Amino acid sequence: MSIRAVKGTRDILPPASAVWNEIEENSRRVFRTFNVHEIRTPIFEETALFSRGVGEETDIVSKEMYSFDDRDGTSLTLRPENTASVIRAYIEHRMDQIAGVKKLYYIGPMFRRERPQKGRYRQFSQIGAEVIGSDSPAVDAEVIELVASLLEANGVRGSRLLINSVGDPDSRGRYIARLKADLEQHLPALSADSQRRAVTNPLRVLDSKDPQDQPIVEKLPSIHEYLNDACREHFAAVCRYLDDRDIAYEVTPRLVRGLDYYTHTTFEFLHGALGAQNAICGGGRYNGLAEALGSKVPAPGIGFSIGEDRLVMAVEEARGGLAALSLPLFIAPMTEAAFRRGALIARRLRGAEVAVEVAPPAKLKRLMELANKANARYTLLIGDDELAQGHYGLKNMASGEQRPVAEDELLAILKG
Ligand code: HAM
Repeated sequence: MSIRAVKGTRDILPPASAVWNEIEENSRRVFRTFNVHEIRTPIFEETALFSRGVGEETDIVSKEMYSFDDRDGTSLTLRPENTASVIRAYIEHRMDQIAGVKKLYYIGPMFRRERPQKGRYRQFSQIGAEVIGSDSPAVDAEVIELVASLLEANGVRGSRLLINSVGDPDSRGRYIARLKADLEQHLPALSADSQRRAVTNPLRVLDSKDPQDQPIVEKLPSIHEYLNDACREHFAAVCRYLDDRDIAYEVTPRLVRGLDYYTHTTFEFLHGALGAQNAICGGGRYNGLAEALGSKVPAPGIGFSIGEDRLVMAVEEARGGLAALSLPLFIAPMTEAAFRRGALIARRLRGAEVAVEVAPPAKLKRLMELANKANARYTLLIGDDELAQGHYGLKNMASGEQRPVAEDELLAILKG
């Protein structure tokens, strides 16, 4: 049997790959305008980074990581997310010593052993950013604005922003104690997963998707009743700054998110075109993460990750499908001498950043078939007569019109 791509992974072929490239280029442009610069971290890390950073009791760490032992026995893991790696790099390179807030972005693959379905893969790509070094709510608002700008720059409209505060350890500790007590009373009615989490990590019960848990989850108290004054003020300021920016949001008290490092602001962007996996972006603040990873100095931060696979789906939906790849010029030589001239013409045009395809010498009918398959805008016909005259036949493939052009005229026509 032939070997196929591993379950939950996929090949991204042209023309779809062109959309990915376009999205990445648009995103890099937006990051630059927010003074956010790229960081590239390794694809694999020591497993301990994620168990300590993301949290032992999360789905990601407890059942979704691709971990393996290196030959020296060290446990390594293909990164399931990149926030922990960015903070590790921040600590390792003493980036706290460099003046100012660190604003870092990344684009690349992540790996989680989830059940594959539409919009959910085992290898997927994230476009994300982390802003480290400030706990100001002004940064939270700017980071959320950055996500909104990225979606807008890629032509994605109509997403919903959900936001919440999960408080600081003090507020959350009191809330968790209350949740534990409430959940204990309903333990037998909960799903098996939630029964376990009610004891080990009660916050996780709030984002249970199991219908069996819903009647109980709906009656649980809101974290907002437990936020202390500082947390409340931080959250109010984030909302105020979003209002200033005309960014609409829905306060969603049960939005605790699936990773344990969050403090204060958490948020998600949902998009209707995506079906069940409708979160196009998730993010939040993580003021204690650096310390959890061994930093002696605090490094409060906030960030987000957009699911690039889902962003591509939303972009394709907004455009009503995939555009076929098009080619500005197809050079169609009918003889060996014409082919050699064609190759030189192609070289000059490519030097001027025009995409050109040169066919090997062939009969006219065959060349026109190839030009049509390549979806060429123009075809340049070169035969021995054209070579002798120094004029080639330029055919507009849409109108079918053909006229003689000199080589010097080509660039202006193609760029026009
Ligand atoms: P997350 O919510 O786990 O957060 O993932 C962020 C986004 O990645 C999701 O909203 C979704 O669009 C995409 N995503 C996650 N899993 C998959 C999958 N299996 N297939 C396709 N797309 C997926 C994080 O990863 C955090 N690191 C976000 C963050 C950055 N928080 C602070 N800074």
